[in-house]
Amino acid sequence: MQPAIGIHHKPLSMKLGFIGTGSIASAVIEGVCTAGIEELSVYVSPRNEAQSKYLADKYACVTRMESNQAVVDQADIIFIAVRPLVAEAVVRELQFRRDHTVVSFVPFLKLAALIDAIAPAQVACRAIPLPSVAVHQCPIPILRPTPAITQLFGHIGQPLEVHDEQQLVALWTLTGLITPFYDMLFTLSNWTIAKGVPGSTANAYIANMYQALSYMAQQASPIDFRELSRHAATPKGMNEQAGKEIRESGAHQEYAKAADRLLERFK
Ligand SMILES: NC(=O)c1ccc[n+]([C@@H]2O[C@H](COP(=O)([O-])OP(=O)(O)OC[C@H]3O[C@@H](n4cnc5c(N)ncnc54)[C@H](OP(=O)(O)O)[C@@H]3O)[C@@H](O)[C@H]2O)c1
Repeated sequence: MQPAIGIHHKPLSMKLGFIGTGSIASAVIEGVCTAGIEELSVYVSPRNEAQSKYLADKYACVTRMESNQAVVDQADIIFIAVRPLVAEAVVRELQFRRDHTVVSFVPFLKLAALIDAIAPAQVACRAIPLPSVAVHQCPIPILRPTPAITQLFGHIGQPLEVHDEQQLVALWTLTGLITPFYDMLFTLSNWTIAKGVPGSTANAYIANMYQALSYMAQQASPIDFRELSRHAATPKGMNEQAGKEIRESGAHQEYAKAADRLLERFK
């Protein structure tokens, strides 16, 4: 895996097509439509009806097509954004051109199956955008990106090139640990409020403190979480005490165990 790639802000012209206009497609579309990309055309599938109509009304560059095939016919880069259970069948129904690039957001559709399904098109990659691409803030792991895809995703997040499917899947597994992360913040929020701090103050402090800690980690070179943890743990200080207690309780190991079980889903 290579480290994060620089963000590109150069305007580019592109014809993008989305098969499946649900949550993640909408976030990507919001992101690209607000990124200042010149000569951008976005073609969306008719489903979901309300969402595709909403996007077409909101952005002049978005056109709701009458079928998935019409999306493919108009676009140069096709994003597959349907749910895993139907994804392969939906893709196999479509006729691609040799010069199409296909980008799948579907977690359980392997690259080999995707390439097989899109013939005669040959250029395919898998990517993991999250809803925060709508506001141009999101790491985006991409398996085998082309320069154009890296450049495009650079407009809506921080592309991270991955060359091995197993590595991609390991990173994908981490996206299943968002709820436990927010649950931890919720626990701390409840505790703080119970001690008499107004909810708005407690929540603003918690959200901003953890963002600041992530920012410090993000800026470190190399990023070394163990070292950041040690650095915060002043001898006999609060962090040393709580760090030891929680580590020894085995709570952190539960994250690794949950990740192991999530990884099974990709097999
Ligand atoms: N949400 C995320 O944060 C996220 C992140 C990374 C990857 N993904 C992956 O991206 C994919 C989409 O996720 P999502 O959260 O956007 O799901 P979603 O909101 O349920 O969107 C899926 C969309 O696919 C449409 N659809 C179903 N069958 C279709 C067909 N035959 N042709 C065209 N469209 C069809 C659905 O339309 P109807 O509403 O009319 O059924 C719906 O709009 C999934 O594979 C998911 O695992 C999601």
